[in-house]
Amino acid sequence: MQLFLDTANIQEIRDGARLGVISGVTTNPSLASAEGIGSTESYKAAVREISLIVDGPISVEVVSLDAQGMIAEGRDIAGWIPNPWVKIPSTIEGFEAISVLSSEGIKVNQTLCFSVNQALLGAQAGSTAVSPFIGRLDDIGLQGIDLIADIVSVYRQHDIKTKVLAASIRHTLHCTLAAQAGAHIATIPYKILVQMAQHPLTDSGVARFKADWEKTANS
Ligand code: G3P
Repeated sequence: MQLFLDTANIQEIRDGARLGVISGVTTNPSLASAEGIGSTESYKAAVREISLIVDGPISVEVVSLDAQGMIAEGRDIAGWIPNPWVKIPSTIEGFEAISVLSSEGIKVNQTLCFSVNQALLGAQAGSTAVSPFIGRLDDIGLQGIDLIADIVSVYRQHDIKTKVLAASIRHTLHCTLAAQAGAHIATIPYKILVQMAQHPLTDSGVARFKADWEKTANS
């Protein structure tokens, strides 16, 4: 399972990229807004900077609600950077936009997916990746991870090539479960990337190795 960073924060992306474990970045209007990005021009500038740091797909979301608006935005975004994935919501208007953009060779990350049926529609429309939102399903009392497993299973059964991109990841267990469920990609906040590396037994083990080495070295 590949890991993408789910942030528009340039410093977090620099810090994450240095670890050599990040294959892409996902952004959305909320993440952009959290970084003070509030116009197409500033979103474009940030996305260009991200694209210089990470050599992989960078997801950029449209804000239009109608198909024609999404298509126009998607075509524009496609010219911003070498490897854009245009994020289009799983709506009726969105599926129309996905089919037009994908037929033009533009890669689409179908976002806000909450059902297998939406994932099936997106695959038929030509989505490169579908993003089921695990955490938001958990928020309403469902098991978000089950949706990942269900989509992976149905895609396998029908030999569908659309990638399953686990999104709305809230904690490290989501990462482990998404990998076990067969997600191709998980997009994670930087804080969770750091937590994935941490284990108290690793910390105490490193400290003990160092102490033992120094005891002998100094005797
Ligand atoms: O990739 C989508 C993700 O950013 C949504 O996460 O935590 O807002 O549900 P969250």
